[in-house]
Amino acid sequence: MKPLDVLMPAAGMGVVADLIVERLPLHRLWLEPDPEAWLAKHGPAIRAIASAGGHGRIDEALMRRLPKLEIVASFGVGYDHIDARWAGENGIIVTHTPGVLDDEVADVAMGLTIMAVRRLPQAERYLRAGQWLKASFPLTASLRGRTMGILGLGRIGKAIAHRAEAFGLSVVYHGRHAQPDVSYRFYPTLTGMAEACDILMVTAPGGSETRHIVNAEVLRALGPDGVLVNIARGSLVDEQAVIEALRSGAILAAGLDVFDNEPKVPTALIALDNVVLLPHVGSASVKTRHAMAQCLLDNLLAWSEDKPPLTPVRETPWRGAWGATGARRSAIAAAAEDKTARISAVVDIMKDLWDLPADCNEGELFAYAEQLRDRILAGESRDGLYAFLANVQGKSLEIPASDASRAIVDRSLDLIGASM
Ligand code: 8YV
Repeated sequence: MKPLDVLMPAAGMGVVADLIVERLPLHRLWLEPDPEAWLAKHGPAIRAIASAGGHGRIDEALMRRLPKLEIVASFGVGYDHIDARWAGENGIIVTHTPGVLDDEVADVAMGLTIMAVRRLPQAERYLRAGQWLKASFPLTASLRGRTMGILGLGRIGKAIAHRAEAFGLSVVYHGRHAQPDVSYRFYPTLTGMAEACDILMVTAPGGSETRHIVNAEVLRALGPDGVLVNIARGSLVDEQAVIEALRSGAILAAGLDVFDNEPKVPTALIALDNVVLLPHVGSASVKTRHAMAQCLLDNLLAWSEDKPPLTPVRETPWRGAWGATGARRSAIAAAAEDKTARISAVVDIMKDLWDLPADCNEGELFAYAEQLRDRILAGESRDGLYAFLANVQGKSLEIPASDASRAIVDRSLDLIGASM
């Protein structure tokens, strides 16, 4: 095994450092008396970063100081604190810890929902304060007959959806694109979904693209019986708008596990009685946090043994070459551009053969083109590809049945082939 020196820029979950240090040389930058001087002296030799779940950013400025950097292994499924796009453009792999925390976070999401709707924390405080001796706790709203609207139906969103169904809730969703294999109703706009649901469950990734997408207009659409639950990132929600909506009764209640400026929570929010607040504990069980730390370490160990990363993020997909530095990084970036160009060409074919208007939703088509590409690369049969695209055509885009999907598949096979 090649020695892989790992830099941990900031303290995070102790379990991460504990696991790494047993297997690889670990440098804890925040413990250095002069971190700047340490980086200047040792930075040029560092090939790996471990981001252990604190609040420190792994940005372009830091990565530029580590010219031999090959991999950033991050603790947690969300990685909005890492400039993954820049990493991808520069041949640096970023890994995260998907899958191992879905059920844990989904449990907390349902817990927050029930606590917010049935006012369980308030009821418990009522009992402890001796109020029950004087009168029964006031009746609350109910989950019965309600619809949950999930913003971002990824792995965690789906784990929540299963639980919500078991609780008798109807489930609908909104995201960047409709998912052909999903039976829940898709809403193309967030405001449209907020109008149609009672519980708005936020599970989409954080980052600049989703910043403050849950705003005053969305909250108004959710309405006076509506409940907002956020277990994703505080940045998705306009916190001031939530405070106003809770104060004015524009929404009924909220359950929040995440905040814009953690661990600081606005005093205005803490002062409100119709919000349940948790200190970002979605995945915080001993078992799950350990599994997340193990996933991070497994990525580093694989890398140190010249094996592919186990769970790279979508901005830095595995392309079969590692240790990319200097000229190899540019070659990888050029290959990435070529792949994007080919997906765009598939989108153009879709627009042409499905006869879509010039101002159609290209983002949605791009997502379908990427799914088609993934299926082609996974070796799916031509019939399977036809069925997939016919489903997109009929169910998601509501275009009348025709042979267009077959023709799109045939031309995409030529374009993408086995070379991507
Ligand atoms: C962790 C999370 O609490 O996985 C995530 O994205 O937000 C949580 O599971 C976080 O990574 C620790 O900082």
